[in-house]
Amino acid sequence: MNKESVPYRRTAFVCVHERAEGRVACGNPGRGGAELAQALKDGAKRLGLKGKARVARTGCLDLCEKGPNVFLFPDGEWLSDLKPADADAILKKLSD
Ligand code: FES
Repeated sequence: MNKESVPYRRTAFVCVHERAEGRVACGNPGRGGAELAQALKDGAKRLGLKGKARVARTGCLDLCEKGPNVFLFPDGEWLSDLKPADADAILKKLSD
């Protein structure tokens, strides 16, 4: 096992998990998780955050009813009930 320092100042873990059969999930059509993740990835690129901050798509973070959800590391901030329009506010946090 190798142990290294975290290579990014901040990481936003964005739940894009999808479920079938009507079960709630951040990435289900109409829920907005996938669109939020894409807006964050596009915004991070536009702002030149490569190598400084990272937007990582994740599977279920287990608070599905509150989603779409984003977990900010290392801040320990949990953002929920997000919309793609919240991307700019999250990008500001990633840029700080
Ligand atoms: S599907 Fe996003 S937290 Fe479970």
